[in-house]
Amino acid sequence: MNKKISVSFIAGVAVFTSSTNLFAQDQNVRVNPVVMVDQFEATSGKFEGYRRSGAKGICAIGEFRGSAAAREISTASAFSGNPIKVIVRFSVGGANPKAADNTKSQRNLSLEFNLPNGEVWQHGNISAPVFGSSTPQQLLGRLASLQPDPVTKAADPVKVKAFADANPEVLLQGRHFASQPVPASYASVNYWGVHGFIFTNAQGKETAGKWIFEPVNGVKGLSDEEAKTKGPSFLFDDIRQRVHQGDASFNFNLELAQAGDVINKATVPLPEGRKKMTLGVLKVTSVSADGGGECLNINFDPNRMPKGIKGTNDPMLTGRSAPYAVSLGRRLSEGSKQQ
Ligand code: HEM
Repeated sequence: MNKKISVSFIAGVAVFTSSTNLFAQDQNVRVNPVVMVDQFEATSGKFEGYRRSGAKGICAIGEFRGSAAAREISTASAFSGNPIKVIVRFSVGGANPKAADNTKSQRNLSLEFNLPNGEVWQHGNISAPVFGSSTPQQLLGRLASLQPDPVTKAADPVKVKAFADANPEVLLQGRHFASQPVPASYASVNYWGVHGFIFTNAQGKETAGKWIFEPVNGVKGLSDEEAKTKGPSFLFDDIRQRVHQGDASFNFNLELAQAGDVINKATVPLPEGRKKMTLGVLKVTSVSADGGGECLNINFDPNRMPKGIKGTNDPMLTGRSAPYAVSLGRRLSEGSKQQ
C-alpha cells in the first residue's frame, strides 16, 4: 500500500503526514535497476553508447547566480550570488538518438552545478509538470505494456489499454505534451523538476516546493506548419545561434507548497496559483560544436544535492540513482556518444 505524504509547517519546520490509498502502487517495492534498464532497451530499442533515456543531446556550459531571496530559504552555496559554473545538457526524451525535434514530445534540461568545496548539485528537468508514472514499479509495468510484440513489431493495444486503465496517471504526461505546441527551441520551453524538494536556512527553517526553469524571454512554440518546415533536426543549430546571441537564460523559480499539498509524487503537480519565488538566473554561455563536451559522461543524478537542500521520500526520486548508474556503466563500456 502507498502512503501519500503532504506537507504542513509547524514552527517553520516542514511536517509530513500520511494517509493510505488502497488503489495506489506500492511505493516501497524496489525494482532491480538492471531489470529496469533491460526493460527500457526491450521497449525502446538498444542504441549502443547512448543514454537509455534522453539519448539525443548536446552539451553546453552556463553560469548561475543565486538570488537574495534564495539565500533566505537555503544555506546552499549555489545561492551565494557568486557566479557558479554549470554543466548543461539539452536533450529530446526517449532512447532514440535520431528522435525527431519537430514532434510534441519531451525536451530535457540537465544541470550540474559545480559548487565550492567539491560539492555538486545535479538534476534532470523535463518539459512537463508531471512524470509518466508515480513509482518505479509502475514505470516498469507501463514500459512492459508498451514493449513491441516480436511478430507484429508493435505494442499490443489490449495490453497497453489494460495497464493504462488500471493506472490512469500514466496518461497525464502524454496529455500535457499533446496540449502544447512543438517547442521552438531548447531555450523557449519550461522545464519542471517534477519532484518536491525542501530548502533549509541557517535558522533550520524549512521551505518545501517544486521548481521550474522558465525562459527569461518567454515560452514559444511552433505551429504545426512551422514544425513540418523545420524538419526533424533543428534544435542543435538553434541553441548554438541563440547562445551566440546571448538569448538562452532561465529563471530558476520555486513554487511554494502550502499545508496539505502533496510533494512526494511525480504525477501530482502543485495546485495552480501557488506563490512563486526566483532562486536565481541561469545563463547558457557556450554550446559544444559537436557531440562531445563536459556533459557526455555525466549521469545527472538528482539525489546529488548540496547541503541546504534535500529531497522527500518520493519513490521516483530515490529510485533514479541506481538505473542511471547502470545506464552510465553500459554506455561507457560501449563508447559513449550522444549524437
Ligand atoms: C525510477 C524512475 C526513473 C528511471 C528508471 C529513469 C531512467 C533513466 C535513465 C536510464 C536515464 C539515462 C541515464 C544516463 O545514462 O545517464 C535517464 C535520463 C533522464 N531522466 Fe530519468 N528515469 C526515472 C525518472 C525520471 C524522472 C521522474 C524524471 C523527471 C524529472 C526523469 C528525467 C530524466 C532526464 C531529464 C534524463 C536525461 C539526463 C541527461 O541529460 O543525462 N527521469 N532516466
